Amino acid sequence: AMKTGVARNPIKNWTAYKQELSSRMGIDNKLIMAIRNKAKQEPKRVVFAEANNFKVLKAVQFVIREGIARPVLLGNEEKIKALIEENQLQIENVTVIDLFKSVSDDQRHRYAKILYEKRRRKGMTYDEAVEKMYNRDYFGAMMVETGEADAFISGFSRKYSDTIRPALQVIGVKEQFNHIAGMYILITKKGPIFLADTTVNMDPAPQTLVDTTILTAAEVQKFNIIPRIALLSYSNFGAFKGNGSPVRVKEAVKILHEKYPDLIADGEMQANYALNGKLRYKRYPFSKLGDNDANTLIFPNLSSGNICYKILQTMGAAEAIGPVLMGMKKPIHILQRDSSVREIINMVAIAVVDAQAVPGTGE
Ligand code: ACO
Repeated sequence: AMKTGVARNPIKNWTAYKQELSSRMGIDNKLIMAIRNKAKQEPKRVVFAEANNFKVLKAVQFVIREGIARPVLLGNEEKIKALIEENQLQIENVTVIDLFKSVSDDQRHRYAKILYEKRRRKGMTYDEAVEKMYNRDYFGAMMVETGEADAFISGFSRKYSDTIRPALQVIGVKEQFNHIAGMYILITKKGPIFLADTTVNMDPAPQTLVDTTILTAAEVQKFNIIPRIALLSYSNFGAFKGNGSPVRVKEAVKILHEKYPDLIADGEMQANYALNGKLRYKRYPFSKLGDNDANTLIFPNLSSGNICYKILQTMGAAEAIGPVLMGMKKPIHILQRDSSVREIINMVAIAVVDAQAVPGTGE
């Protein structure tokens, strides 16, 4: 077998290991446990694009053992086996698919045809479609597209944008939306807050902000939490008069108020007014949020959303779950590069819960 290094911390005490992977910083992790427990009720087939990776395999070991998901591993079979053996990982009876060895011509061409049908008027030839099926992001997404798997996890070792393009091409966006967006759940000492868009749309137009808000609201409701949404900027309720993000946010809020009058969403506002309802109420009592603290934050652009969550997460201010990809037709999630094992596990649980809501998944 191929050598990959010394064994890294084989598990001696599963209960202790479970605890270590479950809680952190004394932050209340009820929400995380609820997501994992929901996943366990009906574990789904999750394809891992980057199975020849130690941390990914550690997460795979955990989700098998805990009954959170039924993993399908993509990658070099020898390398995966070597990693499992050398690190004494408890992974048995799992389907491993090596794109260069264990895929039949039949399956490859069946998948290629589907991709070709979707992309032939966007410049893709049939030969190119066949070639793409040697790429784990295309192949894995295609397994979900055809219903041969229920969800897909990728992104651990590569650039987010490279991983998301295949998913957009193979799976695509839900009919009623024009945009996908990424959400992070931050479990803080004051409870969970939901942040979007943290991963996809660089300079969102007002309608993109609207899509992101609606997608996020739906996601928050899935956790039985009523979304109280603040659309953030560096200005409050029209105070800034120039061009730029406050104006786009203000425009998005206008559309939201017209089209979704029941949604508790308002802005533009600064983050301190969003998170401190009493403070806001004194100065802006007319806001739809009343004197409530916002629990859902919509950022004016990708820079602010991405930077904000990474600061909070890295400084230890919050346990982060994400990025939860919203708006895809099927459960596809792209990890942040170099995710921790716990982050991968939580994303798998989210993906399984997502898949449970898709009719007709599972064999
Ligand atoms: N929502 C839905 N569909 C989209 C979106 C979107 N936000 N963006 C592009 N698409 C569609 C396009 O319409 C296109 O469809 P088509 O080919 O069928 O006509 C398809 O996806 C591919 O589009 P491209 O033009 O190849 O992609 P584009 O250059 O627009 O890039 C991408 C899309 C990759 C998402 C880009 O917006 C991007 O790079 N975003 C930033 C990603 C990033 O770096 N995030 C930060 C790091 S992530 C992290 O920290 C965890």
